[in-house]
Amino acid sequence: MNRIYRLFAVILVISSGIIFSSCKENNVNEILIGEFASLTGSEATFGQSSHNGLMLAVEEVNGSGGVLGKQIKLITDDTQSKTQEVPTVVQKLINRDKVVALIGEVASSRSKAGAPIAQQFKIPMVTPASTNPEVTMIGDYIFRVCFIDPFQATVMSKFAINSMKVKRVALLVDQKNAYSTGLADNFKNVFPEMGGEIIEEQKYSAGDKDFKAQLTSIKAKDPEAIFIPGYYTDVNLISIQAREIGLTCPLFGSDGWESEKLTEGKAKDALEGSFFSTHVSADDPSPGIQNFIKKFQEKYSSKPDAMAFLGYDAGMILFDAIKKAGDTNGEKIKNQLAKVKDYQGITGLITINDQRNAVKPAVVMEIKDGNFVYKETIAP
Ligand code: PHE
Repeated sequence: MNRIYRLFAVILVISSGIIFSSCKENNVNEILIGEFASLTGSEATFGQSSHNGLMLAVEEVNGSGGVLGKQIKLITDDTQSKTQEVPTVVQKLINRDKVVALIGEVASSRSKAGAPIAQQFKIPMVTPASTNPEVTMIGDYIFRVCFIDPFQATVMSKFAINSMKVKRVALLVDQKNAYSTGLADNFKNVFPEMGGEIIEEQKYSAGDKDFKAQLTSIKAKDPEAIFIPGYYTDVNLISIQAREIGLTCPLFGSDGWESEKLTEGKAKDALEGSFFSTHVSADDPSPGIQNFIKKFQEKYSSKPDAMAFLGYDAGMILFDAIKKAGDTNGEKIKNQLAKVKDYQGITGLITINDQRNAVKPAVVMEIKDGNFVYKETIAP
């Protein structure tokens, strides 16, 4: 008999523990937001930066009373910079954690892998930094707070023609990356229209270590510049090998270059005098940008990059939409996101257009002594 009582007691303790912990997970005083980001792997600086920026937004909003009288609780999962990991991560955030909205991913191919699931479950998703146009075309629950690549390609075309007086450009493209192929296609459309010529196109796959065959073919055409719309890990190696085979022209790139890892090692010299477009410059004296840099440095003892700024804006715009929705219902939140107009973000004035994209200027940065120095702003 005694044994049975003891068994009952044990079952009681265990089940109350389960009830208690599930209450804790679904705390009525919290609003759960999911984040999926490349926290490790080849684009880890992207994921960490946008996460750090987003965390500042969460702390700020919670510090000033939260949203709808509740605290924001961020549940962050790592995609390991792998597109194939994304569906599992997003399913888990939606179905197990029961998040009411999603922030992510940074890389376009991975946002494209997560968006169909968010759309299917009617969970609003805001990507801080994915610039490929197809991401938001997936459905009316998918938004972004950054510009898109047809504009970014126009920016680099204008910069090449007007500021650098460069006309003969070669392309080096990451063939399995939607961001890279999309940007290259956009550049191929715009650059010739402005009087430029694409004299050669070569391809690589992210993670390759030897680019000399492609670079040698490019060198044979004697380009004035090479446009490489890729991510920083590969571009670091490409730049070193380009100089090793005697290519001396400047390299042009896009926002995927912006990481302190871009200029590590020999790439510091290899990239001197090269240029890339991105979302925001830390040299911009506007108070929004300078205050954010200060807060970021105090908390993380490092300088924020474009991803950190965008992570913060993505969070703030989402929290604001939840406030305005007055509710955590997905449909109501997405209706508010669709209405964002002239929102003063730290990356500029943000208006979400009919295609759920943000329309805003881009900056071109020059690489000097391993640092990124503001060159010019190009408006849409
Ligand atoms: N725009 C890139 C993409 O869509 C990601 C990125 C954003 C990289 C901002 C760096 C800075 O894949």
